[in-house]
Amino acid sequence: MINIAGLNDASIQRTADIISTGRLAAFPTETVYGLGADATNDGAVAAIFALKNRPDFNPLIVHVPDIDSASEHVHFTPIAHTLATAFWPGPMSLVLERKDQSTVSLLAVAGLDTMAVRIPSHSIARAILNRANCPIAAPSANLSGEVSPTEAAHVVNSFRNIKTMDTFSVLDGGRCAVGLESTVIDARGDVPVLLRPGGVTFEELTERIGKLKLVSENELTHRSPGQLSRHYAPQTPLRLNVSAPRSGEGLLGFGPSTTLSTQNLSPSGNLTEAAANLFKMLRIMDEENLKSIAVAPIPSMGLGQAINDRLKRAATRIAAE
Ligand code: TXA
Ligand code: MG
Repeated sequence: MINIAGLNDASIQRTADIISTGRLAAFPTETVYGLGADATNDGAVAAIFALKNRPDFNPLIVHVPDIDSASEHVHFTPIAHTLATAFWPGPMSLVLERKDQSTVSLLAVAGLDTMAVRIPSHSIARAILNRANCPIAAPSANLSGEVSPTEAAHVVNSFRNIKTMDTFSVLDGGRCAVGLESTVIDARGDVPVLLRPGGVTFEELTERIGKLKLVSENELTHRSPGQLSRHYAPQTPLRLNVSAPRSGEGLLGFGPSTTLSTQNLSPSGNLTEAAANLFKMLRIMDEENLKSIAVAPIPSMGLGQAINDRLKRAATRIAAE
C-alpha cells in the first residue's frame, strides 16, 4: 500500500521521522522523486533494494544537506570543491573517495571505496534532510527498469502491484522541475569524468571547469558500478555454495545451520537481512587471515539474486587474478 501525503509542515516532519527511524519514504527532489532511507542503516538500505527489485546492488546516491556533512563521508579534491561551489545545491552528484570513518552503510555504496554524494536544491528535500538529521540514500522511486518518477502519482503507479508488508508514503511536492536525474561526475582525479549526463549540462560543466572527460560507452560499462572491476572483492578467495567448509576456511553462513559459521548473513534465513550484512561481513572475514571464505548456499530469489550476483563477481575476480 502506498499513500500520497499532502504537503504541509506536519507531513514533512513525518517523512523525516519515518526515514530517521529506519523506514522508507518517497519525497520530491528537483530532479526526480527519490525513495529515501537512512544511509547509515543497513536494514533500511537493504529494504530499498528489496522494494525496487534491483537486480544488482548498484550503489546509491547519498543525499546530504551541506558540504560539511558531505565532508564527513568523502574526501574532497580541489576540482570537487570547484564543482560543489558552482552547482550545489543542485542536480549533480559527485563520486569521491569514501572516508574510512564514514558511517554510511557499505551496502549503500555496494562495497565500493567510493561514494556518490549530492546536495539537492528542492526545498522539501532540504527540509527533510535537515530534520531527519542523517544522510539519506535515495534512488529514483520506481521499480528497477522503469523510468524515473517526476510526480507523486508516478511513484504510486510504479509500485501499484507490489505487496509490501509496510505501507510507505510519498510526499506530494508536485512536478519535479528538472525531471531528469542528476549528472554523475567522478571527481577524484584532476580531470573529472562524466559518468551519467543529467540535470547539469555538459556545457555548464565545461564552462566552469574547462575540461571534462567523456568515456566511451564501452569504457562506461567497465567503469559502471555493476561491473566487476569496480566492485569490492575480498583478497581472500571465495568458494560458493558450500555446505561443509574445509579446514582453515571460514564459513559465511545463511540460515539456521548446525555448522558453526564465522559470520552468518541471516540466522533466520531472511534475504533482506542478508543483503544488509553482505559487504560488511565479507570485509570482516577478509581481515581474519583465512585460507578461503566458504559461502553457504543462498536461494536465488528476491534479493538473493543480487547477493549471488555480487558473490559470483567477487569469486570470479579472485580466480582471474
Ligand atoms: O537525481 C538523482 O540522482 C536521483 C534523485 C532521487 O536524487 N537519484 C538517482 O539515483 O537517480 P539512482 O540510484 O537511480 O542512480 C544512481 C546512479 C547510478 O547510475 C549509479 O551507478 C551511480 O549513480 N552511482 C552511485 N554511486 C556510485 C559510485 N560510487 N560510483 C559510480 N557511480 C555511482
Ligand atoms: Mg534510477
